[in-house]
Amino acid sequence: MDPETPLLWALRDASNLTGTKFGCGNGDCGACMVEIDGEAIRSCLVTITEVEGRFVRTIEGLSNDRSHPLQQSFVAANVPQCGFCTPGFIMAASALLRKNPDPSDKDIDEAITNICRCGGYNAMRGAIKRAGRVMRKLETISAAPPPGITPEDAAKAVPSLNVGKSSDSGADDSE
Ligand code: FES
Ligand code: FES
Repeated sequence: MDPETPLLWALRDASNLTGTKFGCGNGDCGACMVEIDGEAIRSCLVTITEVEGRFVRTIEGLSNDRSHPLQQSFVAANVPQCGFCTPGFIMAASALLRKNPDPSDKDIDEAITNICRCGGYNAMRGAIKRAGRVMRKLETISAAPPPGITPEDAAKAVPSLNVGKSSDSGADDSE
């Protein structure tokens, strides 16, 4: 890809990691949030050149079985409504809890400036604080049901652009 390509497009279109969402594309909404070397960063605002040699974690890399306390607490509290903003919030919260596992509402609001069009902010604050308690071993959450599809099958179900480019005929998109 062009070295100036924003990371968001490289993740979604070339790597088929579509858990990271494309919302505004200009840094406002936070739907594209990933961790880069442990910092929550909007992936639409950094180029692939800028992240070369750095460690990028997307929502797919948080856990492959929904076992991360944030995933558990968001499911337990029915936080996602439409769900579009959820990966971005979880990645921002993951970076926050690593630095501050006992955040106040104010800490959360200051650290996470993502937008939820469904207005789920209160539920998200509660789920983030609960995940922090789980990480501090003060509380447990019973396991959420496993995903209905494996990450591998999910990746195959959403054809990525690079698959089409690998074949002029575009006949085989099964890899
Ligand atoms: S898509 Fe990156 S901040 Fe909205
Ligand atoms: S749950 Fe719909 S945008 Fe947040």
